[in-house]
Amino acid sequence: MAQTLTDKVNTRKTFAIISHPDAGKTTITEQLLLFGGAIRQAGTVKGKKSGKFAKSDWMKIEQQRGISVTSSVMQVDYDGLQINILDTPGHEDFSEDTYRTLMAVDSAVMVIDSGKGIEPQTKKLFKVCRMRGIPIFTFINKLDRDGREPMDLIAELEEVLEIDAYPMNWPMGMGKNFLGIYDIYNNRVELTHPEQNGDNDFLPLDEDGAIIGDYPITESTIYTQAMEDVLLLNEAGNPFDEEAIANGELTPVFFGSALTGFGVQTFLDAYIDFAPSPAAKKTEEGELIPTSKEDLTGFIFKIQANMNPAHRDRIAFMRICSGEFEPGVDVTIQRTGKKLKLSHTTQFMADSRESVKSAVAGDIIGLYDTGNLQIGDTLYEGKNKVQFEALPQFTPELFMKVTPKNVMKQKSFYKGIQQLVQEGAIQLYKTYHTEEFILGAVGQLQFEVFQFRLLNEYNSEVDMTPMGSKIARWIEEEDLDVNMSSSRNLLCKDRFDNPVFLFENQFAMRWFEDKYPEVKLKSLL
Ligand code: G4P
Repeated sequence: MAQTLTDKVNTRKTFAIISHPDAGKTTITEQLLLFGGAIRQAGTVKGKKSGKFAKSDWMKIEQQRGISVTSSVMQVDYDGLQINILDTPGHEDFSEDTYRTLMAVDSAVMVIDSGKGIEPQTKKLFKVCRMRGIPIFTFINKLDRDGREPMDLIAELEEVLEIDAYPMNWPMGMGKNFLGIYDIYNNRVELTHPEQNGDNDFLPLDEDGAIIGDYPITESTIYTQAMEDVLLLNEAGNPFDEEAIANGELTPVFFGSALTGFGVQTFLDAYIDFAPSPAAKKTEEGELIPTSKEDLTGFIFKIQANMNPAHRDRIAFMRICSGEFEPGVDVTIQRTGKKLKLSHTTQFMADSRESVKSAVAGDIIGLYDTGNLQIGDTLYEGKNKVQFEALPQFTPELFMKVTPKNVMKQKSFYKGIQQLVQEGAIQLYKTYHTEEFILGAVGQLQFEVFQFRLLNEYNSEVDMTPMGSKIARWIEEEDLDVNMSSSRNLLCKDRFDNPVFLFENQFAMRWFEDKYPEVKLKSLL
Protein backbone atom coordinates (compact mmCIF):
# COMPACT_ATOMS: atom_id res chain seq x y z
CA MET A 1 0.00 0.00 0.00
CA ALA A 2 1.29 3.46 -0.83
CA GLN A 3 2.50 5.45 2.15
CA THR A 4 0.48 8.54 3.01
CA LEU A 5 2.20 11.83 3.78
CA THR A 6 1.50 11.24 7.49
CA ASP A 7 3.12 7.79 7.32
CA LYS A 8 6.20 9.26 5.72
CA VAL A 9 6.54 12.18 8.13
CA ASN A 10 6.16 9.83 11.09
CA THR A 11 9.19 7.86 9.94
CA ARG A 12 11.45 10.93 10.10
CA LYS A 13 13.77 11.65 13.02
CA THR A 14 16.02 14.63 12.51
CA PHE A 15 18.73 15.45 15.01
CA ALA A 16 21.85 17.57 15.39
CA ILE A 17 24.93 16.00 16.90
CA ILE A 18 26.99 18.26 19.14
CA SER A 19 30.25 17.76 20.97
CA HIS A 20 33.52 19.28 21.97
CA PRO A 21 36.19 18.52 19.33
CA ASP A 22 37.55 15.00 19.82
CA ALA A 23 34.76 13.75 22.09
CA GLY A 24 33.81 11.24 19.40
CA LYS A 25 31.04 12.86 17.34
CA THR A 26 32.41 11.58 14.05
CA THR A 27 33.04 8.10 15.41
CA ILE A 28 29.46 7.83 16.66
CA THR A 29 28.04 9.21 13.43
CA GLU A 30 30.03 6.58 11.62
CA GLN A 31 28.62 3.82 13.83
CA LEU A 32 25.11 5.07 13.19
CA LEU A 33 25.72 5.05 9.47
CA LEU A 34 27.10 1.52 9.73
CA PHE A 35 23.94 0.29 11.50
CA GLY A 36 21.84 1.80 8.77
CA GLY A 37 23.97 0.24 6.06
CA ALA A 38 24.74 3.70 4.68
CA ILE A 39 28.46 2.88 4.77
CA ARG A 40 30.20 -0.45 4.77
CA GLN A 41 33.40 0.36 6.53
CA ALA A 42 34.42 2.49 9.48
CA GLY A 43 36.67 5.33 8.35
CA THR A 44 34.39 6.42 5.53
CA VAL A 45 33.18 9.51 7.29
CA LYS A 46 36.57 10.51 8.52
CA GLY A 47 39.86 8.76 8.31
CA LYS A 48 42.49 11.03 9.73
CA LYS A 49 45.14 8.40 9.37
CA SER A 50 44.27 7.41 5.84
CA GLY A 51 44.03 11.08 4.90
CA LYS A 52 40.53 10.47 3.57
CA PHE A 53 38.10 13.16 4.54
CA ALA A 54 34.40 13.19 4.06
CA LYS A 55 32.33 16.27 3.51
CA SER A 56 32.13 17.12 7.19
CA ASP A 57 35.84 17.83 7.02
CA TRP A 58 36.14 19.24 3.57
CA MET A 59 37.87 22.43 4.42
CA LYS A 60 41.63 22.68 4.61
CA ILE A 61 41.50 24.69 7.79
CA GLU A 62 39.43 21.93 9.35
CA GLN A 63 41.99 19.34 8.38
CA GLN A 64 44.85 21.42 9.73
CA ARG A 65 43.22 22.09 13.04
CA GLY A 66 41.27 18.87 13.38
CA ILE A 67 38.07 20.77 13.99
CA SER A 68 34.89 20.87 12.07
CA VAL A 69 33.93 24.41 11.09
CA THR A 70 30.88 23.72 9.00
CA SER A 71 27.83 21.57 9.45
CA SER A 72 26.86 18.80 7.10
CA VAL A 73 23.90 16.53 6.70
CA MET A 74 23.70 12.76 6.49
CA GLN A 75 20.78 10.39 6.30
CA VAL A 76 20.42 6.81 7.28
CA ASP A 77 17.60 4.26 7.20
CA TYR A 78 17.13 2.33 10.40
CA ASP A 79 14.30 0.09 11.56
CA GLY A 80 11.85 1.50 9.03
CA LEU A 81 12.81 5.07 9.92
CA GLN A 82 14.73 7.70 8.04
CA ILE A 83 17.14 9.38 10.41
CA ASN A 84 18.63 12.70 9.35
CA ILE A 85 21.84 13.57 11.16
CA LEU A 86 23.08 17.15 11.06
CA ASP A 87 26.69 17.54 12.04
CA THR A 88 27.63 20.79 13.79
CA PRO A 89 30.90 22.66 14.18
CA GLY A 90 32.57 21.31 17.27
CA HIS A 91 33.87 24.65 18.44
CA GLU A 92 32.07 27.26 20.48
CA ASP A 93 33.32 30.08 18.25
CA PHE A 94 30.74 28.75 15.81
CA SER A 95 27.85 28.64 18.29
CA GLU A 96 25.72 30.75 15.98
CA ASP A 97 26.05 28.25 13.16
CA THR A 98 25.22 25.48 15.62
CA TYR A 99 22.14 27.34 16.79
CA ARG A 100 20.87 27.75 13.23
CA THR A 101 21.33 24.03 12.72
CA LEU A 102 19.38 23.41 15.93
CA MET A 103 16.50 25.39 14.42
CA ALA A 104 16.34 22.81 11.63
CA VAL A 105 16.15 19.71 13.83
CA ASP A 106 13.66 18.14 16.21
CA SER A 107 16.15 16.83 18.76
CA ALA A 108 19.85 16.97 19.62
CA VAL A 109 22.46 14.43 20.66
CA MET A 110 25.32 15.64 22.87
CA VAL A 111 28.48 13.60 22.96
CA ILE A 112 30.69 13.97 26.02
CA ASP A 113 34.14 12.49 26.60
CA SER A 114 33.98 10.56 29.90
CA GLY A 115 37.54 11.57 30.66
CA LYS A 116 36.85 15.27 30.29
CA GLY A 117 33.21 15.93 31.06
CA ILE A 118 31.85 19.28 29.98
CA GLU A 119 34.95 21.21 29.07
CA PRO A 120 34.82 24.93 29.92
CA GLN A 121 35.06 26.03 26.32
CA THR A 122 32.10 23.83 25.39
CA LYS A 123 29.65 25.21 27.92
CA LYS A 124 28.37 27.86 25.55
CA LEU A 125 27.83 25.31 22.80
CA PHE A 126 25.78 23.01 25.00
CA LYS A 127 23.87 25.90 26.52
CA VAL A 128 22.80 26.89 23.04
CA CYS A 129 21.35 23.43 22.75
CA ARG A 130 19.43 23.89 25.98
CA MET A 131 18.12 27.33 24.91
CA ARG A 132 16.40 25.81 21.90
CA GLY A 133 14.09 23.74 24.13
CA ILE A 134 14.18 20.53 22.09
CA PRO A 135 14.80 17.03 23.48
CA ILE A 136 18.49 16.48 24.24
CA PHE A 137 20.01 13.00 24.39
CA THR A 138 23.42 12.59 25.99
CA PHE A 139 26.01 9.97 25.08
CA ILE A 140 28.97 9.72 27.45
CA ASN A 141 31.74 8.24 25.37
CA LYS A 142 35.11 6.51 25.67
CA LEU A 143 34.24 4.16 28.53
CA ASP A 144 36.98 1.85 27.22
CA ARG A 145 39.39 4.40 28.74
CA ASP A 146 39.74 5.39 32.35
CA GLY A 147 37.57 8.43 32.83
CA ARG A 148 35.86 10.42 35.54
CA GLU A 149 33.36 9.03 38.01
CA PRO A 150 29.96 8.64 36.32
CA MET A 151 28.19 10.32 39.28
CA ASP A 152 30.46 13.37 38.90
CA LEU A 153 29.77 13.54 35.20
CA ILE A 154 26.01 13.46 35.75
CA ALA A 155 26.23 16.13 38.47
CA GLU A 156 28.31 18.36 36.21
CA LEU A 157 25.90 17.92 33.32
CA GLU A 158 22.98 18.97 35.50
CA GLU A 159 24.77 21.91 37.02
CA VAL A 160 26.36 23.39 33.92
CA LEU A 161 23.41 22.97 31.59
CA GLU A 162 20.74 23.52 34.21
CA ILE A 163 19.03 20.39 32.99
CA ASP A 164 17.90 17.26 34.84
CA ALA A 165 19.57 14.03 33.80
CA TYR A 166 18.23 10.49 33.80
CA PRO A 167 20.75 7.68 33.24
CA MET A 168 19.20 5.15 30.89
CA ASN A 169 22.11 2.87 31.62
CA TRP A 170 25.09 2.81 33.95
CA PRO A 171 28.68 1.77 33.26
CA MET A 172 30.09 -1.30 34.93
CA GLY A 173 33.71 -0.22 35.38
CA MET A 174 35.79 1.64 32.85
CA GLY A 175 39.08 1.42 30.98
CA LYS A 176 40.62 -2.05 31.22
CA ASN A 177 37.94 -3.00 33.73
CA PHE A 178 35.01 -1.97 31.57
CA LEU A 179 32.61 -4.93 31.73
CA GLY A 180 29.65 -3.36 30.00
CA ILE A 181 26.54 -1.44 30.94
CA TYR A 182 23.83 -2.01 33.45
CA ASP A 183 20.90 -1.18 31.19
CA ILE A 184 18.19 0.40 33.35
CA TYR A 185 15.86 1.18 30.45
CA ASN A 186 15.91 -2.33 28.97
CA ASN A 187 16.19 -4.10 32.31
CA ARG A 188 19.26 -6.09 31.36
CA VAL A 189 23.03 -6.13 31.49
CA GLU A 190 24.95 -5.69 28.25
CA LEU A 191 28.43 -7.17 28.19
CA THR A 192 31.60 -6.06 26.45
CA HIS A 193 33.03 -9.58 26.57
CA PRO A 194 30.05 -11.87 26.14
CA GLU A 195 32.25 -14.93 25.54
CA GLN A 196 33.18 -14.86 29.24
CA ASN A 197 29.52 -15.35 30.04
CA GLY A 198 28.61 -18.11 27.65
CA ASP A 199 28.40 -15.88 24.59
CA ASN A 200 25.50 -13.94 26.03
CA ASP A 201 25.49 -10.31 24.92
CA PHE A 202 22.59 -9.53 27.17
CA LEU A 203 21.67 -10.95 30.56
CA PRO A 204 18.13 -10.20 31.83
CA LEU A 205 17.54 -8.82 35.33
CA ASP A 206 15.03 -9.96 37.92
CA GLU A 207 12.68 -7.61 39.74
CA ASP A 208 15.35 -6.80 42.34
CA GLY A 209 17.70 -5.74 39.57
CA ALA A 210 20.00 -8.78 39.84
CA ILE A 211 21.16 -10.87 36.88
CA ILE A 212 19.01 -13.97 36.44
CA GLY A 213 21.28 -17.05 36.55
CA ASP A 214 24.86 -17.76 37.56
CA TYR A 215 27.53 -16.15 35.44
CA PRO A 216 31.13 -15.17 36.21
CA ILE A 217 30.13 -11.51 36.21
CA THR A 218 27.80 -11.93 39.18
CA GLU A 219 30.90 -12.53 41.31
CA SER A 220 32.47 -9.25 40.21
CA THR A 221 32.59 -6.29 42.61
CA ILE A 222 32.36 -4.00 39.56
CA TYR A 223 28.92 -5.42 38.81
CA THR A 224 27.75 -5.18 42.43
CA GLN A 225 29.05 -1.60 42.61
CA ALA A 226 27.06 -0.67 39.48
CA MET A 227 23.96 -2.29 41.00
CA GLU A 228 24.40 -0.24 44.17
CA ASP A 229 24.86 2.96 42.16
CA VAL A 230 21.65 2.26 40.28
CA LEU A 231 19.82 1.63 43.53
CA LEU A 232 21.02 4.98 44.78
CA LEU A 233 19.93 6.65 41.55
CA ASN A 234 16.51 5.08 41.90
CA GLU A 235 16.13 6.56 45.34
CA ALA A 236 17.81 9.91 45.00
CA GLY A 237 17.89 10.59 41.25
CA ASN A 238 15.33 12.21 38.97
CA PRO A 239 12.32 10.14 38.01
CA PHE A 240 11.93 9.14 34.38
CA ASP A 241 9.58 11.67 32.80
CA GLU A 242 8.72 11.46 29.11
CA GLU A 243 7.13 14.88 29.03
CA ALA A 244 10.23 16.48 30.57
CA ILE A 245 12.34 14.79 27.86
CA ALA A 246 10.03 16.15 25.15
CA ASN A 247 10.37 19.68 26.59
CA GLY A 248 14.15 19.49 26.79
CA GLU A 249 14.09 19.68 30.60
CA LEU A 250 15.43 16.19 31.24
CA THR A 251 18.16 14.52 29.23
CA PRO A 252 18.34 10.73 28.98
CA VAL A 253 21.99 9.74 29.45
CA PHE A 254 23.69 6.76 27.83
CA PHE A 255 27.18 5.39 28.38
CA GLY A 256 29.32 3.61 25.81
CA SER A 257 32.39 3.47 23.67
CA ALA A 258 31.93 4.61 20.10
CA LEU A 259 35.33 3.37 19.02
CA THR A 260 34.53 -0.22 19.88
CA GLY A 261 30.89 0.29 18.87
CA PHE A 262 29.76 -0.63 22.35
CA GLY A 263 26.48 0.88 23.52
CA VAL A 264 25.80 2.81 20.34
CA GLN A 265 23.03 0.56 19.05
CA THR A 266 21.45 0.41 22.50
CA PHE A 267 21.50 4.20 22.47
CA LEU A 268 20.02 4.34 18.97
CA ASP A 269 17.19 1.94 19.85
CA ALA A 270 16.19 4.01 22.87
CA TYR A 271 16.66 7.25 20.97
CA ILE A 272 14.07 6.27 18.37
CA ASP A 273 11.62 5.40 21.15
CA PHE A 274 11.68 8.96 22.47
CA ALA A 275 12.93 11.28 19.76
CA PRO A 276 10.06 13.21 18.23
CA SER A 277 9.05 13.11 14.59
CA PRO A 278 8.76 16.50 12.86
CA ALA A 279 6.45 18.72 14.86
CA ALA A 280 4.37 21.78 13.98
CA LYS A 281 6.41 24.90 13.20
CA LYS A 282 5.58 28.46 14.14
CA THR A 283 4.83 30.81 11.26
CA GLU A 284 3.56 34.38 11.19
CA GLU A 285 0.26 32.92 10.04
CA GLY A 286 0.01 30.47 12.97
CA GLU A 287 1.23 26.92 13.54
CA LEU A 288 1.95 24.82 10.49
CA ILE A 289 1.38 21.09 10.92
CA PRO A 290 3.84 19.04 8.82
CA THR A 291 1.07 16.99 7.27
CA SER A 292 -1.73 19.55 7.23
CA LYS A 293 -0.69 21.02 3.96
CA GLU A 294 -0.09 19.28 0.69
CA ASP A 295 1.95 22.29 -0.41
CA LEU A 296 5.65 22.27 0.19
CA THR A 297 7.11 24.73 2.72
CA GLY A 298 10.54 25.04 4.26
CA PHE A 299 13.25 27.46 5.30
CA ILE A 300 16.92 27.98 4.59
CA PHE A 301 19.08 27.54 7.69
CA LYS A 302 22.47 27.34 6.11
CA ILE A 303 24.28 28.41 2.97
CA GLN A 304 27.61 26.98 2.03
CA ALA A 305 29.62 28.31 -0.87
CA ASN A 306 32.44 26.47 -2.56
CA MET A 307 31.89 23.08 -0.97
CA ASN A 308 33.30 21.80 -4.16
CA PRO A 309 36.02 24.34 -5.09
CA ALA A 310 36.31 22.85 -8.57
CA HIS A 311 32.73 23.86 -9.33
CA ARG A 312 32.40 27.00 -7.23
CA ASP A 313 28.97 25.88 -6.17
CA ARG A 314 26.75 27.43 -3.56
CA ILE A 315 24.33 25.23 -1.71
CA ALA A 316 21.41 26.44 0.37
CA PHE A 317 20.22 23.88 2.92
CA MET A 318 16.46 23.80 3.29
CA ARG A 319 14.59 22.13 6.13
CA ILE A 320 11.26 20.91 4.82
CA CYS A 321 8.42 21.75 7.19
CA SER A 322 5.32 20.56 5.32
CA GLY A 323 4.12 19.01 2.08
CA GLU A 324 6.16 16.82 -0.20
CA PHE A 325 9.08 17.79 -2.36
CA GLU A 326 9.16 16.54 -5.93
CA PRO A 327 11.74 17.60 -8.50
CA GLY A 328 10.67 20.61 -10.53
CA VAL A 329 8.26 22.01 -7.92
CA ASP A 330 7.68 25.78 -8.14
CA VAL A 331 8.08 27.78 -4.94
CA THR A 332 8.03 31.43 -3.93
CA ILE A 333 10.80 33.03 -1.87
CA GLN A 334 8.81 34.90 0.75
CA ARG A 335 11.37 37.70 1.24
CA THR A 336 11.54 38.74 -2.41
CA GLY A 337 8.36 37.29 -3.87
CA LYS A 338 10.54 35.72 -6.56
CA LYS A 339 9.48 32.36 -8.05
CA LEU A 340 11.94 29.50 -8.12
CA LYS A 341 11.79 26.07 -9.75
CA LEU A 342 13.48 23.50 -7.53
CA SER A 343 14.97 21.22 -10.12
CA HIS A 344 18.65 21.14 -9.23
CA THR A 345 18.74 19.70 -5.72
CA THR A 346 20.89 17.34 -3.73
CA GLN A 347 20.71 15.19 -0.67
CA PHE A 348 23.72 14.03 1.22
CA MET A 349 24.72 10.46 1.73
CA ALA A 350 27.69 9.33 3.78
CA ASP A 351 30.22 9.66 1.02
CA SER A 352 28.28 10.91 -1.98
CA ARG A 353 25.54 13.24 -3.09
CA GLU A 354 22.39 12.28 -4.91
CA SER A 355 19.65 14.30 -6.51
CA VAL A 356 16.49 14.29 -4.42
CA LYS A 357 13.51 12.37 -5.73
CA SER A 358 11.17 12.88 -2.82
CA ALA A 359 11.39 14.53 0.59
CA VAL A 360 8.96 15.42 3.38
CA ALA A 361 8.92 17.35 6.67
CA GLY A 362 12.08 16.70 8.67
CA ASP A 363 14.21 16.15 5.59
CA ILE A 364 17.00 18.46 4.56
CA ILE A 365 17.63 19.11 0.92
CA GLY A 366 20.42 21.08 -0.71
CA LEU A 367 19.44 23.62 -3.36
CA TYR A 368 22.05 24.79 -5.84
CA ASP A 369 21.71 28.53 -5.55
CA THR A 370 22.87 31.30 -7.83
CA GLY A 371 22.45 34.05 -5.27
CA ASN A 372 18.66 34.17 -4.84
CA LEU A 373 18.56 32.76 -1.34
CA GLN A 374 19.61 33.98 2.09
CA ILE A 375 19.75 32.35 5.49
CA GLY A 376 16.33 32.50 7.12
CA ASP A 377 14.38 32.61 3.84
CA THR A 378 11.01 30.88 3.78
CA LEU A 379 10.09 29.00 0.61
CA TYR A 380 6.50 27.98 -0.12
CA GLU A 381 4.53 26.33 -2.86
CA GLY A 382 1.11 27.59 -3.95
CA LYS A 383 -0.63 30.88 -3.34
CA ASN A 384 -0.92 30.93 0.46
CA LYS A 385 1.90 33.03 1.82
CA VAL A 386 3.92 31.49 4.65
CA GLN A 387 6.69 32.94 6.77
CA PHE A 388 8.53 30.96 9.40
CA GLU A 389 9.85 32.68 12.52
CA ALA A 390 13.14 34.49 12.01
CA LEU A 391 16.38 32.66 12.69
CA PRO A 392 18.04 34.35 15.64
CA GLN A 393 21.29 36.21 15.18
CA PHE A 394 23.88 36.31 17.93
CA THR A 395 25.25 39.62 19.12
CA PRO A 396 28.89 39.64 18.00
CA GLU A 397 31.46 40.39 20.66
CA LEU A 398 34.71 40.69 18.74
CA PHE A 399 35.45 43.17 15.97
CA MET A 400 38.08 43.59 13.31
CA LYS A 401 38.68 46.23 10.65
CA VAL A 402 39.26 44.68 7.27
CA THR A 403 40.75 46.10 4.06
CA PRO A 404 41.97 44.44 0.86
CA LYS A 405 45.76 44.28 0.61
CA ASN A 406 45.76 44.82 -3.09
CA VAL A 407 43.54 47.68 -4.27
CA MET A 408 43.59 46.21 -7.76
CA LYS A 409 41.68 43.21 -6.45
CA GLN A 410 38.79 45.07 -4.83
CA LYS A 411 36.23 43.22 -6.94
CA SER A 412 37.07 39.78 -5.58
CA PHE A 413 37.28 41.27 -2.06
CA TYR A 414 33.73 42.65 -2.30
CA LYS A 415 32.39 39.45 -3.86
CA GLY A 416 34.01 37.25 -1.23
CA ILE A 417 32.93 39.39 1.68
CA GLN A 418 29.36 39.56 0.40
CA GLN A 419 29.09 35.80 -0.07
CA LEU A 420 30.68 34.87 3.24
CA VAL A 421 28.44 37.32 5.08
CA GLN A 422 25.37 35.88 3.34
CA GLU A 423 26.49 32.44 4.47
CA GLY A 424 26.34 33.73 8.03
CA ALA A 425 30.04 32.92 8.46
CA ILE A 426 30.63 36.38 9.92
CA GLN A 427 28.77 39.68 10.38
CA LEU A 428 29.56 42.85 8.49
CA TYR A 429 29.32 46.47 9.62
CA LYS A 430 30.37 49.76 8.07
CA THR A 431 31.31 52.93 9.93
CA TYR A 432 28.61 55.51 9.38
CA HIS A 433 30.46 58.17 7.46
CA THR A 434 33.64 56.64 6.15
CA GLU A 435 32.09 53.27 5.25
CA GLU A 436 35.09 51.33 6.53
CA PHE A 437 34.45 47.60 6.74
CA ILE A 438 34.24 46.09 10.21
CA LEU A 439 33.71 42.39 10.81
CA GLY A 440 31.86 41.17 13.88
CA ALA A 441 32.19 37.66 15.27
CA VAL A 442 31.11 35.58 18.23
CA GLY A 443 34.52 33.87 18.38
CA GLN A 444 38.06 34.54 17.19
CA LEU A 445 38.19 31.48 14.93
CA GLN A 446 35.50 32.98 12.73
CA PHE A 447 37.99 35.70 11.67
CA GLU A 448 40.64 33.14 10.87
CA VAL A 449 38.26 31.09 8.78
CA PHE A 450 37.07 34.25 7.03
CA GLN A 451 40.61 35.34 6.15
CA PHE A 452 41.57 31.85 5.04
CA ARG A 453 38.52 31.41 2.85
CA LEU A 454 38.78 34.86 1.30
CA LEU A 455 42.28 34.02 0.18
CA ASN A 456 41.63 30.45 -0.91
CA GLU A 457 38.25 30.81 -2.51
CA TYR A 458 38.28 34.41 -3.75
CA ASN A 459 42.00 35.01 -4.13
CA SER A 460 41.75 38.12 -1.98
CA GLU A 461 44.39 38.86 0.61
CA VAL A 462 43.27 41.15 3.42
CA ASP A 463 44.68 43.23 6.24
CA MET A 464 42.86 42.71 9.50
CA THR A 465 43.19 45.19 12.37
CA PRO A 466 41.80 43.94 15.69
CA MET A 467 39.45 46.31 17.48
CA GLY A 468 39.05 43.98 20.46
CA SER A 469 35.78 43.25 22.14
CA LYS A 470 32.91 45.71 21.94
CA ILE A 471 29.30 45.77 22.98
CA ALA A 472 27.03 46.04 19.95
CA ARG A 473 23.62 47.66 20.48
CA TRP A 474 21.05 48.53 17.86
CA ILE A 475 18.89 51.66 17.91
CA GLU A 476 15.75 52.69 16.03
CA GLU A 477 16.26 54.71 12.86
CA GLU A 478 14.17 57.58 14.27
CA ASP A 479 16.46 57.90 17.32
CA LEU A 480 19.47 58.35 15.11
CA ASP A 481 21.61 61.46 15.48
CA VAL A 482 25.03 61.13 13.87
CA ASN A 483 26.52 63.47 16.47
CA MET A 484 26.02 60.75 19.06
CA SER A 485 28.98 58.86 17.57
CA SER A 486 32.41 58.99 19.19
CA SER A 487 35.45 56.75 19.43
CA ARG A 488 34.01 55.14 22.57
CA ASN A 489 30.62 54.56 20.99
CA LEU A 490 31.22 54.15 17.31
CA LEU A 491 28.18 54.50 15.09
CA CYS A 492 27.96 51.89 12.33
CA LYS A 493 25.45 50.36 9.93
CA ASP A 494 24.78 46.65 9.82
CA ARG A 495 24.43 44.92 6.47
CA PHE A 496 20.76 45.85 6.29
CA ASP A 497 21.71 49.51 6.95
CA ASN A 498 20.27 49.46 10.48
CA PRO A 499 22.10 51.81 12.87
CA VAL A 500 24.20 50.09 15.54
CA PHE A 501 26.62 51.42 18.16
CA LEU A 502 29.82 49.61 19.07
CA PHE A 503 30.52 50.55 22.69
CA GLU A 504 34.04 50.30 24.02
CA ASN A 505 32.88 48.76 27.30
CA GLN A 506 30.03 48.69 29.83
CA PHE A 507 31.13 52.01 31.24
CA ALA A 508 30.85 53.72 27.84
CA MET A 509 27.42 52.20 27.35
CA ARG A 510 26.17 53.41 30.73
CA TRP A 511 27.51 56.88 30.04
CA PHE A 512 25.58 56.88 26.75
CA GLU A 513 22.38 55.65 28.42
CA ASP A 514 22.61 58.47 30.98
CA LYS A 515 23.21 61.06 28.29
CA TYR A 516 20.48 59.83 25.92
CA PRO A 517 17.85 58.25 28.18
CA GLU A 518 15.22 58.38 25.40
CA VAL A 519 17.27 56.13 23.07
CA LYS A 520 16.49 52.46 23.53
CA LEU A 521 19.45 50.12 22.99
CA LYS A 522 18.71 46.62 21.71
CA SER A 523 20.90 43.54 21.52
CA LEU A 524 20.48 40.39 19.44
CA LEU A 525 20.44 36.91 21.00
P1 G4P B 1 35.01 14.47 17.03
O1 G4P B 1 34.31 14.18 15.75
O2 G4P B 1 34.06 14.72 18.17
O3 G4P B 1 36.05 15.51 16.93
O4 G4P B 1 35.77 13.14 17.50
P2 G4P B 1 36.23 11.87 16.67
O5 G4P B 1 35.09 10.97 16.43
O6 G4P B 1 37.05 12.30 15.52
O7 G4P B 1 37.15 11.18 17.75
C1 G4P B 1 38.31 11.82 18.26
C2 G4P B 1 39.33 10.79 18.69
O8 G4P B 1 38.79 10.02 19.74
C3 G4P B 1 39.71 9.82 17.59
O9 G4P B 1 41.05 9.42 17.79
C4 G4P B 1 38.81 8.64 17.86
O10 G4P B 1 39.31 7.44 17.36
C5 G4P B 1 38.79 8.65 19.38
N1 G4P B 1 37.58 8.02 19.94
C6 G4P B 1 36.28 8.21 19.58
N2 G4P B 1 35.47 7.44 20.33
C7 G4P B 1 36.26 6.76 21.17
C8 G4P B 1 36.01 5.78 22.18
O11 G4P B 1 34.89 5.38 22.45
N3 G4P B 1 37.10 5.31 22.85
C9 G4P B 1 38.38 5.73 22.58
N4 G4P B 1 39.36 5.19 23.27
N5 G4P B 1 38.65 6.63 21.62
C10 G4P B 1 37.61 7.14 20.93
P3 G4P B 1 42.27 10.07 17.04
O12 G4P B 1 43.45 9.24 17.33
O13 G4P B 1 42.36 11.52 17.35
O14 G4P B 1 41.81 10.02 15.56
P4 G4P B 1 41.95 8.85 14.50
O15 G4P B 1 43.30 9.05 13.94
O16 G4P B 1 41.77 7.57 15.24
O17 G4P B 1 40.85 9.14 13.53
